[in-house]
Amino acid sequence: MRIVLGVGGGIAAYKAAELTRLLQQSGHQVQVVMTDAAREFIQPLTFAALTGRKVITSLFSHESSDATLSSAVEHIAVAQEHDLLVVAPATADLLAKLAIGRADDFLSTLYLAFTGTVVLAPAMNTAMWTHPATQANLETLSRRGCEIVDPDDGWLACGTVGAGRLADPARIAERINSLGKTRRDFEGETFLVTAGPTQEALDPVRYISNRSSGKMGYTIAETAAKRGAKVVLVSGPVNIPAPRNVELIPVKTAHEMRQAVMEQLTDATIIVKCAAVADYYVANVSPQKLKKTAARLSLELDPTPDILAEVGQKKADRILVGFAAETQNLLEESRRKLLSKNCDMLVGNLVNQEGAGFESDQNDVEIVTRSGRTVHAGPASKYEIAERILDEIAMLRLSIRGMDRIA
Ligand code: C5P
Repeated sequence: MRIVLGVGGGIAAYKAAELTRLLQQSGHQVQVVMTDAAREFIQPLTFAALTGRKVITSLFSHESSDATLSSAVEHIAVAQEHDLLVVAPATADLLAKLAIGRADDFLSTLYLAFTGTVVLAPAMNTAMWTHPATQANLETLSRRGCEIVDPDDGWLACGTVGAGRLADPARIAERINSLGKTRRDFEGETFLVTAGPTQEALDPVRYISNRSSGKMGYTIAETAAKRGAKVVLVSGPVNIPAPRNVELIPVKTAHEMRQAVMEQLTDATIIVKCAAVADYYVANVSPQKLKKTAARLSLELDPTPDILAEVGQKKADRILVGFAAETQNLLEESRRKLLSKNCDMLVGNLVNQEGAGFESDQNDVEIVTRSGRTVHAGPASKYEIAERILDEIAMLRLSIRGMDRIA
């Protein structure tokens, strides 16, 4: 892709140099635009040397001797000649400016003239990031179709720890690379995705749960929305933000998850059950906090409803995808569950290996389908795995419904 990288005036501006390199290494052409504030933090020469191109710093070229009519409308030419505009770091001020459509420097003017994909990677102090004004601006920009790469949690230049650190340049580059491949092949579909763990109460303050982070399910929901689907995400308690353009239904227990899924089932055309649902719940939940004694404590556990199996019975012509988190016999177990729960596809992953499964940003899976297909995907980022799973769903849809339904 031909990419314009807009660098804003934040301490994270130096990380834009690494992002430039990563984008070039992925085969993209990069043109850098810097705001005045960005130049307070890093010299244009750094980017000029990396890209071999003049860095654009001003709307007006009268500083240079070659001022011509064409250079006076350079922002229009740059807008027309590029496929993607990424702003990193996007400061609170830049987000505000872009949200209201002010055009008082090259970058903000370019944004208005730009008709391609826009990616914003915000970075700022936690209080500025969480401020309702900043969040409202982001909401506006997101609704307008901008892709937002949310900042990370961590050490900030102001000496505090919190949300607001520019996303790792590798994460921004990966997101840009995945956008390059985006097709809207799920337009017209309604996805129902479940994610995260469930929590089963023992008493008013304690619960039984598992290590599921929700990352895989959230990434599938996000990817399906990006590929044009309407997405409803039923999620157990997790610590990650809801993807944009997805309807989130938060639940706690397996019973609550079952109820939410059954309520949403009618409208769903593709169901992906990624949640790590508890297999048992506490039969005799104590109404009061259990007291510690010297005696052994036994809990009575009853099986939870198997939501996937129930959906399998009621699914009609919907496409049903289940997950299986295993610690051994992955393929065998995945195939058994595919059939026993009447799924069209089952994604199995080993959860006891390094760099895959619960809590990891990576995954390594076996995808088995009703048509007998077995595909290994990974180790790769959960973004790549999500794309792969959706590619397989698209193929399955073709074989189940035929070409005419897809057109
Ligand atoms: O049988 P097992 O729990 O390993 O199957 C995992 C799959 O079943 C996942 O897709 C999970 O979301 C689903 N499941 C469910 N309800 C349960 C247990 C698992 O929907 N009570």
